[in-house]
Amino acid sequence: MKIPFTSAAQAFAGVAFASTALLAAQTPPANTGAALFVQNCAFCHGRDAGGGEEGPDLTRSKLVAEDVGGDKIGPVVLNGRQEKGMPRFKLADQEVKDLAAFIHEQKKLAESQKGGRRGVDAADLQTGNAEAGKKYFNGAGKCANCHSPTGDLAAVGSRLVGLRLEQQLLYPRGTVASVVVTLPNGNKLTGKLAFKDEFHIGIYDSNGWYHSWPVSAVKFAIDAPADAHAELLGQYTDDDIHNLMAYLQTLR
Ligand code: HEC
Ligand code: HEC
Repeated sequence: MKIPFTSAAQAFAGVAFASTALLAAQTPPANTGAALFVQNCAFCHGRDAGGGEEGPDLTRSKLVAEDVGGDKIGPVVLNGRQEKGMPRFKLADQEVKDLAAFIHEQKKLAESQKGGRRGVDAADLQTGNAEAGKKYFNGAGKCANCHSPTGDLAAVGSRLVGLRLEQQLLYPRGTVASVVVTLPNGNKLTGKLAFKDEFHIGIYDSNGWYHSWPVSAVKFAIDAPADAHAELLGQYTDDDIHNLMAYLQTLR
């Protein structure tokens, strides 16, 4: 299969909407927060509000943390932030309240999950020890295996501030796994992972074309370097994070 990037994106959008309809059909009270969220928000923020390609993780949002019954979430939803990619929605007061309740529920869930780590408060970001952070960076943290304070992380402390920096440290986003697919005839194709489940793998090649195969028909190797961060999460203590944050903030 070879179809241009845009129609692949549309095909994915189609899949998303089809499964949305399915889920809505399985969830009888269509006006609950969960159903509203799946219909209107999940496409960007993820089904569990944990963030997606197009929208941030709402379970770690400061605004959500400060929200009471939709008083902060409501204005964002009703007005949007259109220049930043958040559209505006016409919803009734009760619908906004239901949505807010759902988001708060997801936040609680995310925080209770094993390996889930609560965001540190903005005030905490100043409490670390930069020297200790530097030591951890070059030593036990193994950060220096992949990063350099004068290379890729140069000026990271100006580029990303506060909670945004911490979010990237804990859960780097915007990284795309690269894939090498070996076809039955031995040819290799390199690209960016577009899709993968038990049965199919899809990639975008360097020209933006989408290709997909049954997983049984090809060999492939997926390289997702940011996975290292997920593994590291279990090892950081809160002190390590505070110290690292203090250190990273000195990289300006
Ligand atoms: C087309 C993608 C898209 C859709 C659909 C969408 N959002 Fe967003 N949303 C965004 C983006 C992008 C931002 C970040 C805007 C910014 O950086 O200020 C955002 C921000 C937010 C924020 C503010 C988070 C913060 O910490 O400042 C809330 C709350 C929110 N969205 C809730 C919702 C809800 C509820 C829905 C469904 C009714 C929804 N969004 C639908 C893209 C989307
Ligand atoms: C095995 C490799 C690897 C290790 C080890 C690693 N990282 Fe990363 N890190 C990555 C990748 C890949 C990204 C995503 C790069 C990107 O978005 O451009 C990333 C992203 C980041 C970012 C966001 C950078 C940005 O420009 O947005 C920060 C900050 C960061 N890492 C800090 C750390 C720290 C601190 C450690 C050690 C505790 C660490 N990393 C360990 C691979 C690694």
